[in-house]
Amino acid sequence: MDRFRLRQNPFAGPAGTDTVGLETSSYMAKLSVRDLDVSGKRVLMRVDYNVPMEEKDGAMVINDTTRIKETLPTLNLLVSKGARVILAAHLGRPDGKREPSMSLAPVAVKLGEMLGKPVAFVDETVGEKAEAAANALKDGEILLLENVRFHAEEEENDPVFAARLARLADVYANDAFGAAHRAHASTSGVARILSAWGSPCAAGLLMERELKFLGDELENPARPFVVILGGAKVSDKIKVIDRLLEKADTVLIGGAMAYTFKLAHGGKTGKSLVEKDHTGTALAAESKAAAKGVKFLLPTDTVIADLKDTGKLNKKGRPVFEFVNPRVNTGDIPDECEGFDIGPETAKTYAEVLASAKTILWNGPMGMFEDKRFAEGTTAVALAVVAATQNNGAKSIIGGGDSVKAVNKAGLGDKVTFASTGGGASLEFLEGVPLPGVTALSDK
Ligand code: 3PG
Repeated sequence: MDRFRLRQNPFAGPAGTDTVGLETSSYMAKLSVRDLDVSGKRVLMRVDYNVPMEEKDGAMVINDTTRIKETLPTLNLLVSKGARVILAAHLGRPDGKREPSMSLAPVAVKLGEMLGKPVAFVDETVGEKAEAAANALKDGEILLLENVRFHAEEEENDPVFAARLARLADVYANDAFGAAHRAHASTSGVARILSAWGSPCAAGLLMERELKFLGDELENPARPFVVILGGAKVSDKIKVIDRLLEKADTVLIGGAMAYTFKLAHGGKTGKSLVEKDHTGTALAAESKAAAKGVKFLLPTDTVIADLKDTGKLNKKGRPVFEFVNPRVNTGDIPDECEGFDIGPETAKTYAEVLASAKTILWNGPMGMFEDKRFAEGTTAVALAVVAATQNNGAKSIIGGGDSVKAVNKAGLGDKVTFASTGGGASLEFLEGVPLPGVTALSDK
């Protein structure tokens, strides 16, 4: 049987160890939906339809359909094989209660439009009504269950709830990479139960792609391998930095975490976001890079702004500031100012490094890109990543969350090699943490 091989733990050492960077026998071959005979079978597939929504004229409207779109190849494959597809997903964090604004009903409608065929919806997740809806499916038909998180047992990974989900299915598939870091009933428990009952549990095509690009492709990257890391905190990214230093040729640092590095070097950071307790962490990362011969670049200029008190308080009772008079700064940041983006000189240097890259991994924006006055650094880096992809044949991998949002906001989402649908899951996977949603799948 032609089953794909995937690496459960990128950069992992030999099986059973957590040694970074050794070539290894730790491949875990997982079953793929491509290999399953699903004709006439009920396939329970976990998907990540945790999509951004907002209320408009009394109805919930989906703002970004990327996560739905990315499951279409697996759904089309299952439909073409004559499967009866039952989709399970979560939306938001309803804390085990039925919350109408977090119903998946609008997602069923949108999915039907995108597939060009109707998708049934049942307003229960388990139990008689859900089972009746699942059993009424004909070959090639699709049903979406109500939000699994309307039941507290989902996040508790309750075995009885998992068994109720398992009753809906003959086969399990998981295409929800974005939720694979959660050990919940629909991501893990149900697969364990169905496996014990002798049913196959397979990775979907999206899951395969995520593991390939965030895992296998970074195992032996074409060089130079350039890693771009941004985001707010050094402490959030330190495990990823540590692991990637084993593989990268160059690391480019941006985002607010750059100010912690600046502080660590004795620079003044004004009112910028810094982690005073992590200056040692920052310096240790730089020392490790030096010891490994990895180039480690920090911003040489930054975009700062003055903080103007609006006299208003936010929901937490804290003063609300406006950011005024944005300007480029080199050297110390004045006491009353805050840094919000990398400056043009840094963006130019980073773009030059990226121009010769053959593999690029980007996790975390370069600045507060949601405000267009502070989006230029992130946009410049996004354009450089796209140019390297198109002109230099680089493989560009955008590691999820805000960096994907930033690339999409710049209209460049379809010009990179791969953009992950995961947020927390991508970060944990890049840290080398085994994902419960992957480990629960059947080995080859
Ligand atoms: C996500 O949006 O990152 C995933 O859907 C997981 O959602 P969660 O953080 O609420 O578990």
